[in-house]
Amino acid sequence: MKRILTGITPSGYPHLGNYIGAIKPSLDLLDEKCESFLFIADLHAVIKVSDPSRLAELSNAIAIAWLASGLDPNKTSFYRQSDVPEITELAWLLSCITEKGLLNRAHAYKAAVDQNNESGKKEIDEGISLGLFSYPLLMASDILTPNATHVPVGKDQQQHLEITRDIAEKFNNKYGKFFNVPEAVIQNEKTVLGTDGRKMSKSYNNIIPLLSTEKELKKSVMKIVTNSQEPGEKKEWKNNTLFSIYSSFASDEKQEEMKNFFKDGIGWGDAKQKVFEELNLMLSPIREKFIEHSNNKKHIEEILKSGAEKVRAQTVPILKEVKKLVGINAL
Ligand code: TRP
Repeated sequence: MKRILTGITPSGYPHLGNYIGAIKPSLDLLDEKCESFLFIADLHAVIKVSDPSRLAELSNAIAIAWLASGLDPNKTSFYRQSDVPEITELAWLLSCITEKGLLNRAHAYKAAVDQNNESGKKEIDEGISLGLFSYPLLMASDILTPNATHVPVGKDQQQHLEITRDIAEKFNNKYGKFFNVPEAVIQNEKTVLGTDGRKMSKSYNNIIPLLSTEKELKKSVMKIVTNSQEPGEKKEWKNNTLFSIYSSFASDEKQEEMKNFFKDGIGWGDAKQKVFEELNLMLSPIREKFIEHSNNKKHIEEILKSGAEKVRAQTVPILKEVKKLVGINAL
């Protein structure tokens, strides 16, 4: 049976890009017959979020975003990474068989080193935490602890999956076949653009929030950059940020309709209004559930705790086996 696993790092407030790129595809996949593990990667977030109260708030926001988007905790194991100690325990064991060079090649670490080089730092590793360096190792452990087979991720995570596969194979070669060598399920190759036309990302300050009031949503849609073309002028939908954002969530029919409006010279203000209305239609039910969940934090805590129990029913015996294989046994 397929064992699908994916996590989201609570390093920013959830936005439309997260919903389309990660939250929705993770839920769409679960319609199939499979076992599934969905988790909040709060231990990963400690690397990036230094303010403790913000970390707590973001973890909570991701949990609510997932639930409001339709995650059914009865049909999946839904948990917080930090509630499953087997993950960090396995991470250590995996680190003992993982060559440092494998992690030297990871994109995020290389980017940090490049930045140090460019700014003329004497020590190339200056300011780079061991946490950042071993990020892909912890991710491998997330995946291998419940022995997942399929991992839906965005394209930017493909390298991490390759590292995970390497580590799983290394372990299997050394101790006998134990771990599944997991496959990346790359979905939604299309990048969701932000209001300024670059990839939607909290670090660019160009997001469309997922969990906002209608007014805030409208404000962020109105911020989408356009050009100085007047109403009545024919507009090009190709390479247009507003159209690109629309196409990431609107149906094919709606997109065709919008192309025609562009051809007929719709004004940018009217076009934005249409984008807002369609987006609002999609997000209203999520907003309603979000408000409901926000008022009941105790309930969310219960859901996450029982999710952790559910996944630990699997990870505790797996760790026991792994330790036996490695030679850590009771006398
Ligand atoms: N690194 C992923 C991201 O930033 C989140 C993540 C952590 C993850 N552990 C994982 C995804 C395990 C899939 C499987 O998007």
